[in-house]
Amino acid sequence: MPTRIGVYPGSFDPVHNGHVDIIERCCPIFDEVVVAVLHNTSKEPLFSIEERVEMLRDVLADNPGCRVESFSGLLVDYMRQLGARTIVRGLRAVSDFESEFQMALMNRRLDSRVETVFLTPKEEYSYLSSRLTKEVFLLGADLEGLVPGAVLERMRQRMVRD
Ligand code: PNS
Repeated sequence: MPTRIGVYPGSFDPVHNGHVDIIERCCPIFDEVVVAVLHNTSKEPLFSIEERVEMLRDVLADNPGCRVESFSGLLVDYMRQLGARTIVRGLRAVSDFESEFQMALMNRRLDSRVETVFLTPKEEYSYLSSRLTKEVFLLGADLEGLVPGAVLERMRQRMVRD
């Protein structure tokens, strides 16, 4: 039987508990889950691509069916290299739907063999986003319970350093 690979792409700047929840939900569905971190040259990220990959690898160290890689360029091209056909995206609320729907259709237009499946995180993470996480943290909020411990530690170090 061919290996069923699920690709969970994103910016992960930084990974938060809503992402981890989705990844854990993927594990029983796929033989292998590839967490694909976008190397996005146009955005100014808080964490470099190397740091984002490293944090995810730390956080997912106990999930043997998961690997973390970075990619640049079109997601469908990267999927072709992997031999994967399934994209996984998280849907937190109706507000996510429009842009996710557009991306799913564009990816299918670019490669008709690619399907996107949507998973929903625990309700307690339905408001969580990397953008808000960074914003409230930089203004002094406590992120305990919202991001993995290893990420929280890195964010604290970053605040001290910068
Ligand atoms: O975490 P994000 O920022 O919501 O993830 C967006 C991501 C990485 C899934 C999307 O921007 C993407 O796939 N970028 C790669 C370039 C690409 O293929 N663009 C067309 C998508 S329809």
